[in-house]
Amino acid sequence: MIFSRVVGTGSFLPGTPVTNEDLVARGIDTSHKWIVERTGICARYLAEPSQTSSELALAASLAALNAAGLQANDIDLVIVATSTPDFVFPSTATLLQAKLGMDNGAAAFDVQAVCSGFVYALAVADKFIHSGSHRRALVVGAEVFSRILDWKDRSTCVLFGDGAGAVILEACGTPGILATALHADGRYNEILSVPGNVCGGAVIGSPFVQMEGQAVFKFAVKVLDDVAQEVLLAAGIDAAALDWLIPHQANMRIIQATARRLGVPMANVVTTVAEHGNTSAASVPLALDAAVRDGRIRPGQTLLLEGVGGGFTWGAALLRF
Ligand code: ACO
Repeated sequence: MIFSRVVGTGSFLPGTPVTNEDLVARGIDTSHKWIVERTGICARYLAEPSQTSSELALAASLAALNAAGLQANDIDLVIVATSTPDFVFPSTATLLQAKLGMDNGAAAFDVQAVCSGFVYALAVADKFIHSGSHRRALVVGAEVFSRILDWKDRSTCVLFGDGAGAVILEACGTPGILATALHADGRYNEILSVPGNVCGGAVIGSPFVQMEGQAVFKFAVKVLDDVAQEVLLAAGIDAAALDWLIPHQANMRIIQATARRLGVPMANVVTTVAEHGNTSAASVPLALDAAVRDGRIRPGQTLLLEGVGGGFTWGAALLRF
C-alpha cells in the first residue's frame, strides 16, 4: 500500500504587520477593542499591489522544498489552493510551476474551495499519491485576499490578510496522512461569497467579499466538529490522542468553540489568527509551518488539520507528522 507523508513545510507573509491601530489610522471606522474582542485578530499582513498569489506561493514553496531537501523538478504534482488567482487563467499552479523553473511536465492545477482550499488540496494530493500515479506533491495555499476586500466595509475588511503556506507530500510505505474528509453544501453559497465575474471587459456583480457573519459562525462551529469526529473515527483515534489541532484561522472564538467541543485543550491548538488575520486557503499551512519551525510540532506527532469556508465547504486531514 502507498501512503503519503509531509516531508517539508514553508510559508511566506508579505511586508510588515498591519495592526488594528494602523487600520484606524488609515481611516477605517473601527477599533482595536472591537476587532480583538470579536475575532482575536491583532494584525495582518497585506501584499503590495504588485505582489500576486503566485509570488507569495513561490516564496512559501522554496522554503518547503528547502526544508525537504528537494529541488523543484523532484515534484511531479503541483496543486495551489486559492480564491485570489493571478489571472482568470492560466492557473496559479502553472504560474508557480514556471516561477520555480520546473520543466519536468509535472501536473499542475488550482483548487477553489475558499478557506477550505488547502485541506481540499491536501486530500486530493494524498489520493493521487495513494493511487500510485504521482510520488511527490507540492501543495500550496496562497492568497492576496486584500484585493477582494471593500475597505469601506468595516464588517469584513478588518478580518482578512495575505500570505502563503506550502507542504511537500511524498509517497511512503507507512502513513503519513491517516484519514481525510471533504464536504460541501452549496445551498449555503450566499452566506460567504464574492458574487461577481468578469464579462465583456467589465465586472458584473460585486468584486468584494460579502458575509453574513453570524450565520458563518454557527455553520463553521458545527461542521468543524462533525468533520473532526469523522476523520478521528475513520482512523480509530481518540481526540485525546491528538498532539495538535490546526484549524482554519478565521476567528479565535470559532477556534475556541471547536477545541472545546472536541475536548482539546487550547495548549494543544496552533493559533496564528492574532498575528495573521484570516488568510483563507493559506491559513492552515501558515499555522502548520509556524509550529514546525518553532519546534512545537515534532516528528511522530498526530495532527488534525481543519478547514471551513465559502461554498459552503469544509474538510479535515488527520496525519502523523
Ligand atoms: N468595527 C466596529 N464596529 C463594527 C465593525 C468593526 N470592524 N464591524 C461591524 N461593526 C458593528 C456593526 O455595525 C454593528 O453595529 P450596530 O449594532 O450599531 O448595528 C455591531 O458592530 C455588531 O455587528 P455584527 O455584525 O452583529 O457583529 P458580530 O458580533 O456578529 O461580529 C463577526 C461580527 C466578528 C464577523 C462575527 O459575526 C463572527 O465572528 N462571525 C464569524 C465569521 C468569520 O469569522 N468570518 C471569517 C471569514 S469566514 C471563514 O473564514 C470561514
